[in-house]
Amino acid sequence: MENREDLNSILEFLPVVFRSPALFWPSKVVEALKALSKGPEHSKVDSGEVLFLAISDLRQSLCLSSGALAFSTADGFSLYFDDLMSRAEANKWFGEVLPALADSLLRLPVMLEDHYKSADSVTCVGARDGLKTGLRLLKSQEAGVVVLSQELIGALLACAFFCLFPDSTRGANHLQVINFDHLFASLYDNYNEKQENKIKCLIHYFGRICSSIPVGNVSFERKVLAVDPNVNYIPHPEAESWSKSVAPLCLFEVCSSGLIEDHSKEALEVDFANKYFGGGALTRGCVQEEIRFMINPELIAGMLFLPCMADNEAIEVVGAERFSQYTGYASSFRFCGDFVDKKDTDIMGRRKTRIIAIDALVNPGKRQYRHEFLVREVNKAFCGFSDPCKSHRYQLLFKDDRFSEAELDHDLKSVANNSDNILGIGPSASFEDEVGIATGNWGCGAFGGDPELKAIIQWLAASQALRPFMVYYTFGLEALQTLDKVTKWITSHRWNVGDLWNMIADYSTQRSKKETQVGFFNWLLPLLSSDDPMILDP
Ligand SMILES: *[C@@H]1O[C@H](CO)[C@@H](O)[C@H](O)[C@H]1NC(C)=O
Ligand SMILES: *[C@@H]1O[C@H](CO)[C@@H](O)[C@H](O)[C@H]1NC(C)=O
Repeated sequence: MENREDLNSILEFLPVVFRSPALFWPSKVVEALKALSKGPEHSKVDSGEVLFLAISDLRQSLCLSSGALAFSTADGFSLYFDDLMSRAEANKWFGEVLPALADSLLRLPVMLEDHYKSADSVTCVGARDGLKTGLRLLKSQEAGVVVLSQELIGALLACAFFCLFPDSTRGANHLQVINFDHLFASLYDNYNEKQENKIKCLIHYFGRICSSIPVGNVSFERKVLAVDPNVNYIPHPEAESWSKSVAPLCLFEVCSSGLIEDHSKEALEVDFANKYFGGGALTRGCVQEEIRFMINPELIAGMLFLPCMADNEAIEVVGAERFSQYTGYASSFRFCGDFVDKKDTDIMGRRKTRIIAIDALVNPGKRQYRHEFLVREVNKAFCGFSDPCKSHRYQLLFKDDRFSEAELDHDLKSVANNSDNILGIGPSASFEDEVGIATGNWGCGAFGGDPELKAIIQWLAASQALRPFMVYYTFGLEALQTLDKVTKWITSHRWNVGDLWNMIADYSTQRSKKETQVGFFNWLLPLLSSDDPMILDP
């Protein structure tokens, strides 16, 4: 195996063993998986209760302690597969899906070896030479990409279902749970329909990939704004840069109904993330991020190797396929059938679904109006929305003092020709130019942020990142009733990023000092609520 460095960084988190030169399962595991792959007549695994015993045996053969699983896991498996699942579904699950999953687990060592082989030889479109794409730990403060085939992801998620990932050292490495034990244990401990429906989405996904193995790729990228000027990433802007930016504001479109994931134009779709990618997806969580992980389960694979995000980081996933339809939100969340994802694919075989995970401040209260936190939030969004091949242009728009006017002029011209891309994993530059942002009330639900402030912050970040538009789904939020009018008014005044930043910074200072108590929109346009069309005239 060539790619030892990558493999070494992740090996302690994988269930397979490496004994040079190959990866493999211990022989007892191979026997058990072979039996499982031959179906219930052979393996006797035909109920949730027996399935759990089979899982415990597999874990034992891998020297994983049975005590390490969440306490009610056995009861959860039994409840789901023996009580909640219909007999017909259970027959299909035990007769067809489970054997196919066991089969894909048997092939996992070979899939991983093939993966490292092709990751060694891959040359991504427009990529800098030597770009690594192999499965490895994507550590904090190191920008990088992992590209996995959908088939490999399916096998990794089967490992998670069988609770085969070692988890004793995950916490210390800022990685969250990846095995599905808590998902099933919570179903039993605190039965509720949303948890049952989350599991239904995942079971549906396994059924789909077993009946037809998907052939595309998914990329997972850690994006980092450089705090250290010696690193070749987009630099981390300070308040002064925002204040001086001459970037024009992008188009702002408000939708009071509809959902981000149903957005039809090319756009980065914002995941209102937890700093631990996936949040409570594999425990009890069921809000925006967790729902996305249930309907696009391939996102879960990123939880395996993406440690906690720092303030200057974001995660971008391109290509995760959607498998399920759903209704509701939080406690009303329900799986409602198959979804056929018709998104086009790019030249790397990735669906053109781009999901950007950015974690907002948690319960920021009054703190969110302090400048350091405004900067934190706008940079978090900018990190997610930015495109590394435009790094140079961002610096010019920030009026970075390191550039003289003459240089600025020359660079602006040459930048137009230059598609030198640091990570080079994005589609071609001209294509990327069409891609906007689809977002909504980021950090405003469970996290308790101010929606007016967050809408403006995301607009600033999208504009500075040179995105052509931002579509904002308000989910009917009352506080944003005037969002359309306010953004139209601002647009009609032709403010740039610096102008709007200075306005929101002034407002925030006053709000911090308790000189004002009203929201930003009322502060900016006190007459707006009077519905007088006159004030909207530029
Ligand atoms: C997926 O990526 C690999 C390289 O990692 C490439 O060889 C393969 O052709 C890609 N698949 C598709 C469908 O483009
Ligand atoms: C940009 O490309 C055009 C033609 O492709 C060329 O004429 C021009 O000199 C280039 N500009 C710079 C600054 O490199």
